Amino acid sequence: MSRDPGHVLITGASSGIGAALARRLARPGRRLTLFGRNTERLRAVAGACAGTTETMAVDVTAAPAMQAAIERAFATAPVDLLIANAGISGGDARTLMSVNLEGIINTVEPAIPLMLSRGQGHLALMSSLAGFRGLPNAPAYCASKAAVRIWGEGLRGRLAPEGIRVSVVCPGFIETPLTAENPFPMPFLMSPEAAAERIARGLARNRARIAFPRRLYWPILLGTLIPQALTDPIYRRFGVKE
Ligand SMILES: NC(=O)c1ccc[n+]([C@@H]2O[C@H](COP(=O)([O-])OP(=O)(O)OC[C@H]3O[C@@H](n4cnc5c(N)ncnc54)[C@H](OP(=O)(O)O)[C@@H]3O)[C@@H](O)[C@H]2O)c1
Repeated sequence: MSRDPGHVLITGASSGIGAALARRLARPGRRLTLFGRNTERLRAVAGACAGTTETMAVDVTAAPAMQAAIERAFATAPVDLLIANAGISGGDARTLMSVNLEGIINTVEPAIPLMLSRGQGHLALMSSLAGFRGLPNAPAYCASKAAVRIWGEGLRGRLAPEGIRVSVVCPGFIETPLTAENPFPMPFLMSPEAAAERIARGLARNRARIAFPRRLYWPILLGTLIPQALTDPIYRRFGVKE
């Protein structure tokens, strides 16, 4: 992100990582626009943030509504940093793709021409460490996060010459409502505040990939080089409630 983004837009800001990011990035003199669906929780998060905050209740799967909301946010003040974070872990494959992949596309695509017209801006796309390998317990969730990661990596290369930064965020297990019901061990579980700190630092350094915790990231990367027949028995113990 630019050293001091004046306007930060976060989707999925009513809960978990998005709410922690809002609190972490809020400061006097900075404008935050917080997207979510639950207006009560959105307002509570906004109330805990310093600086100017605005909330917008919009479903990320509604492309025309998202286009209008993103344009409205930019019209208030150009968005310097947009964090496309909203996501789910449960539901069938189509629902997961619709929220986790199309929802991110519906967030990012309307912002690109608006950032291009200024020749600056930073897009952060929420993927996951689950986006590096199809886990037996969460094939569609992993696929949605892999697609976001690969799309974001391509966008970074495409938009860099135009002055637009793109970062892909790949957290491990974070303690939020999304993981609250997980019936399996979650190694190196982190608080949303610790995750928000890692993400904010990665964005400040314009990292292409913000993947953490490292002690889970490296074994997962290594696991992609090992034959699936050997790793599936281990991975069957982990996943999300899909
Ligand atoms: N927790 C983890 O371990 C973990 C790890 C890696 C990546 N992630 C990713 O991080 C992101 C945030 O997850 P979280 O753990 O913070 O989960 P969370 O606490 O359940 O928060 C999810 C957020 O997404 C919003 N959202 C969900 N569906 C939406 C929709 N259709 N339209 C608009 N907003 C919608 C929710 O808004 P409302 O509640 O207002 O509807 C909420 O603000 C997700 O993309 C998730 O996949 C999480």
